[in-house]
This record gives sequence, structure tokens and C-alpha cells, in this order.
Amino acid sequence: MAQNYEFRDDDVIAPEVYGRIGHPHDAFTWLRKNDPLRWVEPEHYRPFWAVTKHADIIEIEKNPEVFASEPRPILIPEQTQPEMREELIMEIFKRLEDRPKLLEVLATAGEQGLIRSLVQMDPPDHTNYRALVQPWFKPSNIKALEDRLNMITESIIDDMMGDGGERELDFVQDVAVWPPLKLIVELLGVPEEDEPLILKLTNELFAGEDPEMMRAGDDPLSGIETVKSLYDYFTELTEERRVNPREDLASYIANGKLNGAYLPYKELISYYIIVATAGHETTRTSISGGMHALLRNPEQLQLLKDNIDDEDTVKLAVEEMIRWTTAVNQFSRTATRDYELRGQKIKKGESLGLFYASANFDEDVFDDPFKFDITRKPNRHLAFGTGPHQCLGLILARMQMRIFFTQLIPRIKEMTLVIVITGAASGFGKLVSEKLTALGAC
Ligand code: HEM
Repeated sequence: MAQNYEFRDDDVIAPEVYGRIGHPHDAFTWLRKNDPLRWVEPEHYRPFWAVTKHADIIEIEKNPEVFASEPRPILIPEQTQPEMREELIMEIFKRLEDRPKLLEVLATAGEQGLIRSLVQMDPPDHTNYRALVQPWFKPSNIKALEDRLNMITESIIDDMMGDGGERELDFVQDVAVWPPLKLIVELLGVPEEDEPLILKLTNELFAGEDPEMMRAGDDPLSGIETVKSLYDYFTELTEERRVNPREDLASYIANGKLNGAYLPYKELISYYIIVATAGHETTRTSISGGMHALLRNPEQLQLLKDNIDDEDTVKLAVEEMIRWTTAVNQFSRTATRDYELRGQKIKKGESLGLFYASANFDEDVFDDPFKFDITRKPNRHLAFGTGPHQCLGLILARMQMRIFFTQLIPRIKEMTLVIVITGAASGFGKLVSEKLTALGAC
């Protein structure tokens, strides 16, 4: 922690802070030491408890009866909260006139907005909806994807290498973005030619105020156009999979039934959206963050190179990359009743921000937490969350990263970090968009 650091409430949440420095580790370290469960009132956000200790996040996440995901599963700037923007809602209604089904969804949306997916739900809905696709995510199913993933990864790395000579590239945009995207669109059964569209739409959905990601020249309502396009796309996909079901995840979602009926329209489309978005941005960020950390710690890169044939070493390294990067900034919970935590009285209705990156550098859990150590064991990080909402795709994400680095590392003769550009971040936990430009890959 910088010696003269002075804590400001904005530091834990403001997108421009994340855009400038990445995870605000000075603020988190200060909080863990001085005020680990602090009531903060940042500008543009409704006040919340900043939860920074590993143990507290576990206690909260494992107790969904007291700490609910509804109505605010993430901390978002106030102006984008539905109750704050009646005028905007009217404008949205106008823009949806040509989509009667979407209008119907909006009319009943209340505080939840147009998307209601697993992350927004609490038991019993959460339990029932998650159970619909859980069988698809079982380890044996994921393992069966390994060969296909190896092939996809090989062609991505071939493209990266070009003719084998020295070249400069943007690692995030040219490389890291592809493995998770290609996999997810494949799982969902999205045809290859639609990949760029899905990438664009999902980027826009979580772009928040990041100008690089927004629809060009768009207004604050650009999100509605994105949601509209996603709704259209997945409506068509559903119709197709109901007529021609396959073994893919899209068919599970399209044909899933609760109490004998197909899922309601809004929840159905939201399911595709959460899988499409949660699945690629996080893995892309973890791959980029991992590569970045390896380049900044050449002795760790060398260690990985020397042991690249040992699957256990690569698995540990991947786990450390995931901890180090912590791709999801925060989720939030709302207290359903008064509760005492760490000596503080949390009142019913108050929000809590769960800062995973703080938990993942908690000195009470990790030895020398600010050392990037690919042999770290145990590594009880919370980058995938915990409790009933714990990441549904974690086995897939781990496997994908293991395959990627197992293939990449032996093929690189030399790689140099030229520049890292960070962008503003907001919303669901879109981490700083970290661009590595690497030189000398061959
Ligand atoms: C939920 C992180 C990859 C699908 C989550 C949560 C986190 C997370 C922190 C919230 C957990 C909580 O509230 O306790 C990550 C990271 C990934 C990754 C760091 C990559 C390194 C994936 C992939 C998929 C996926 C590849 C799908 C193919 C989901 C879904 C949820 C979720 C559907 C919602 C689960 C629920 O609310 O029940 N993820 N994720 N994630 N993730 Fe991931």
C-alpha cells in the first residue's frame, strides 16, 4: 500500500479509478486493515457496505435467505437504476413499439429491468432455473469438449504466430478474445459467421460508460438497442432448437421446462444472454491478466515453461492467474432482515458490495498475497464466487485456460510487453480492458 494513501469512498467503485489503476488494491488493503466492513457513500452510487474480507464474503454468499440477489445483484451507478429514470423508461417504451413481446416484458419488469437471469434470482427460482442446465455443465460433459477445445486453441495460436517471425500484436483483441468466444458460440450453437455479432453485442451490453465498447456515436439508451438485438437473435435460435433439438446448451435452454411449461420469454432469453456474456468476457480477462502477470514476472514464466508438460503445474498456474486477475469486480446482495456481521449492524434493505479482488489478496488467507506465485497451494481464491451462485462455468473456464497456456507457452520463443492500456470499467464486473501488445512471438 502506498505510504501516504488516504481512503476515499469513490476508490472502491468508481469506473475511472478501475480504468486508471485496475483493482484499487491500496483502498482494499487499507479497508481490510482499518475498516473491513465499511459503510461507503460514493458519488453516483446508492450507499452500501463495502465487504473486503474473504471470510465475510463467504458468510454472505452462503446465506441467500438473509442476503438476497434481488433486487440489486450488482452495484451500478444511480442514474442507471430504473427508479431514477422515468423519462428514460418512457423513451424505451417508444423504441420498443415494434417489439410487442419485449414491451410486455418491460411492462412487468419493475425494478429488475429487461434481463432476469440466474444472477438476479434467489431461491426457489434460482435453484429451479439453475437445475435446468446444471446437468449440461457436469465434469464428464466438459471433459468431452477437450479435443474440440484443443483444435480451436491451436488454430487461434497459429493465427497469432503468423509466419513465425517477429510481430507486434494486441494480445487482448487479437488473441485472448477468441478462445472463450469460439467456445461459447459453439456451446450455444451460434453459427461461426455470427461470432463477431455476438462479441459486439455482449461487449456493448456490459460496456457501461466505456466509450471504446459503446455503439459508435450512440446515446445513453444504446443499451436498449443492444438488448433488442440480443432478444431478436435468441428468439430465432429458440424457435430453431425447439424444432431441431441437439445436444448443445442452446437446446437445453430452449427446451427446458418448469412445471411442465417452457420458460417465460424474459427468463428464457436472459438465460442465453448470461451464458453468452458471463462465459467469454471473464475468461478473456483472465487469459490476458495471466499473460500480463507472466510477462511481468519472468522467473514465473520460466518456471511454467520448464514444467509445461506437467498438467498439475499448469493447473496451479492457471488458478494463480485467475486469483491474480479476479475478472469479476463485484456482485452485490441486499439484506432481507437485520443481521450482525463483524460487529456491524446491517439493516434490512441495505446493500453490500462483495469485492472479490480484495478477498483474493486477504492476508488472513494468502501468504504473501501480492506475490504472483504459480506454485501457490492451497489457493482458496473467490474469483468464481461461492455458495449457490458460484460460477456455473468454472470447470470449463479452468480447462480452457489450461489448454490455452499449455499450447501457447512452448511455441513462444520470446515475448515482450510493449504497452498496457487500461479502459474505464463499470457494471457487471467488466474488469479493466487490459491490452497487452506483445513483440517477438514466433
Ligand atoms: C457466475 C466468475 C467463466 C457462467 C459467476 C460469478 C463469478 C464468476 C464471480 C458470480 C458468483 C457468485 O455470485 O458467487 C467467472 C470467472 C470466469 C468465469 C472469473 C473465468 C475465468 C464462466 C464461464 C461460464 C460462466 C466460462 C459459462 C460457460 C456463469 C454463470 C453464472 C456465473 C451462468 C451465474 C451463476 C448463478 O448465478 O447461479 N462467474 N466466471 N462463467 N458464471 Fe462465471
